[in-house]
Amino acid sequence: MTAPSALAKNHERVLIVDFGSQVTQLIARRLREMGVYCEIHPYNRADGGFIKGFDPKAIILSGSPASVHWENSPRADKQVFEQGVPILGICYGEQTICAQLGGKVEPSDHREFGRADIEIVADSPLFAGFGPVGTMERVWMSHGDKVDVIPDGFRAIAKTPNAPFAAIENAERRIWAIQFHAEVAHTPRGAMLLRNFVQGIAGLKGDWTMAALRAEQVAKIRAQVGSGKVICGLSGGVDSSVAAVLIHEAIGDQLTCVFVDTGLMRANEADEVVSLFRGHYNIPLVHIDAKAEFLGGLKGVDDPERKRKFIGKTFIDVFEREAKKVGGAGFLAQGTLYPDVIESVSFDGGPSVTIKSHHNVGGLPERMNLKLVEPLRELFKDEVRALGRELGLPPAFVGRHPFPGPGLAIRIPGEVTAERVAILQKADAIYLEEIRKAGLYDTIWQAFAVLLPVRTVGVMGDERTYDNVLALRAVTSTDGMTADYFPFDHEFLGRCATRIINEVRGVNRVVYDVTSKPPGTIEWE
Ligand code: XMP
Repeated sequence: MTAPSALAKNHERVLIVDFGSQVTQLIARRLREMGVYCEIHPYNRADGGFIKGFDPKAIILSGSPASVHWENSPRADKQVFEQGVPILGICYGEQTICAQLGGKVEPSDHREFGRADIEIVADSPLFAGFGPVGTMERVWMSHGDKVDVIPDGFRAIAKTPNAPFAAIENAERRIWAIQFHAEVAHTPRGAMLLRNFVQGIAGLKGDWTMAALRAEQVAKIRAQVGSGKVICGLSGGVDSSVAAVLIHEAIGDQLTCVFVDTGLMRANEADEVVSLFRGHYNIPLVHIDAKAEFLGGLKGVDDPERKRKFIGKTFIDVFEREAKKVGGAGFLAQGTLYPDVIESVSFDGGPSVTIKSHHNVGGLPERMNLKLVEPLRELFKDEVRALGRELGLPPAFVGRHPFPGPGLAIRIPGEVTAERVAILQKADAIYLEEIRKAGLYDTIWQAFAVLLPVRTVGVMGDERTYDNVLALRAVTSTDGMTADYFPFDHEFLGRCATRIINEVRGVNRVVYDVTSKPPGTIEWE
């Protein structure tokens, strides 16, 4: 993405210049939560011409894994400082501001990593509402270098024993900078600080609402599609569903949804999707029962990557076949989200390793000569959920946990058979029912059962059993990139185990997975 998105021009906006920090996306999320439109662009693309064209009302410089002492380490384009709008540097952002404007940054003897307490040492609009000078504030630090000398015209507004310039300002030039990460949840009042900058200092009103977005997207889809036909592959997930409902609002029956039932969905899921779309929304829906094709092809396949590749390819084959029957479609709708689109900055330069081949309908648009309609490209997952609610999708549907494209196949290590899918569906449904009953569904990012290719000995009544082991998994996460296992109490886990073993024939032992990501992944395959 080298140009501002089409949406940008309709809203007051903030430019986030990305230097490659792991948490840059969180800056954007915090701003969007306040109703402020912003975009992330890599530092080496945010050049003078781009910045002038983007015409931001404020600029934020992100953190970075780099050190300003590295040869050719990244710098902000000088237009950042000439644009005449307020600037906030975060972590590396502060260091590069200081290095670029005549201060001095030194490698520190003390790496500061983790929680720290800063002391506010001067009145500043950045700390409005935090309390008087002398207030201590908990923040999250993560840096090696530290600012030793600040450029002329700047003053310290907060310090720690290790970092005399934990926060600085030049009110005249309207530049602020902080050594800590205000965007992470570990800085409890970080969102308030960002609000002070964006709304208090830069004066953005916050005109990014779901109602406005809905109207804009409807107009945009109509302009793109004209009288053409669109097909949309529904997966049962939130993203493709929200995209479909939005597109239907824009172009009505020019949209046809294709739902491929792979036989690898959760219990009742296929019926729920079909009745929501046909019954509730009256959206034309082609329902393809491809269970036999998928299960047949998975016979004897136990390697995770072969499973994924087969399912991905078969999905495209089936979809293409059916889409051709619909006839005359010039467009393919996809629920692509902003995190898939942001171009990240890599400092090691090497290709990243493939941990898992993710399943999507990649390749199809070229094969079928289709243009893409992607109305969610500028949105984060939580914004897609908000848009779904705005469009009247049932809250329980909108709040669904993510579900992987290859479905239950990757939750059955070893060979996938119809019998094993049925066992897993039943156990998984009981587990989710218990989670809902306990009021925990919305606190958990994802919860599911995994049917292991391990049989163990048990005793039920007076009988010896020799049956399957089932693993339960539940994690918290903000984006699926990292995750922690969910700390259920033991009573809850015991209740799930008892119910599953009593009610699901074929399972005689239940275990709970306490692995976080990394080093584990969320799914088992
Ligand atoms: P992992 O297992 O890599 O999963 O930690 C991270 C998130 O991605 C989901 N996932 C997928 N989603 N197609 C998808 O659409 C896939 O092939 C796929 N594989 C994993 C997973 O459920 C979790 O939310």
